[in-house]
Amino acid sequence: MTVHVQFLGHASFKVQSDYSSLLIDPFFTGNPYACCTADDFIALDAMLLTHGHFDHIKDAVAIAKQTECEVICGARLADYLVSQGVKAETISVMVPGETKQFLFGKVTAVPAVHDSQIHTENGNIPGDPPRGYVVEMEGHKVYHAGDTALFDGMKDFRALSIDVALLPIGGTYTMNADEAAQAAALIAPRVVVPMHYDTFPNISADPRAFAAKVTSGIAVSILQSSEKETL
Ligand code: NI
Ligand code: MN
Repeated sequence: MTVHVQFLGHASFKVQSDYSSLLIDPFFTGNPYACCTADDFIALDAMLLTHGHFDHIKDAVAIAKQTECEVICGARLADYLVSQGVKAETISVMVPGETKQFLFGKVTAVPAVHDSQIHTENGNIPGDPPRGYVVEMEGHKVYHAGDTALFDGMKDFRALSIDVALLPIGGTYTMNADEAAQAAALIAPRVVVPMHYDTFPNISADPRAFAAKVTSGIAVSILQSSEKETL
């Protein structure tokens, strides 16, 4: 069955089959490349959050409240969301290394190398180990790296036969284009989609230069905000 992976700007993606839809790292308010707003999400099966930085959770509370979807995140981020009015019973806490089966498919939280703080309206508070997620839906595997540096453990993802890897290329807070190309070579997905670049001046990157560095045999799909990769 077909699965669509839609880029919503920055590191936000929607993953959708005929039966289920998931949202990863919603950041629409204040995102110059956002193609939607929180109000566009009426029904959603799940929302996955990689870490607590504003550019990954900005619209998470609003969307969790209005859809009452399953929210998948770390324990401290869960506590923060509950403090903002999200229903605790809708949250599934996961730690990197853990796999859970949901009605829509299987989710594995995988390590990421990044800062762990949660950005709140009243300043930063301690958060959880940052993570990426591997989502398996209708026989397709999507890896969202979250914000991460290049790390050796990425070579373990090769055995998973990832269909599409969503990799940050903007540098400064994450891998730059060179490092992301090395990550792609370690992971060996069928398709790689660059993300987390150009949203802010300090993460500018050229996705075509990234594409030129990716090992032949791995397709690079440069998506504009709202465009989809179909699996
Ligand atoms: Ni971050
Ligand atoms: Mn970020």
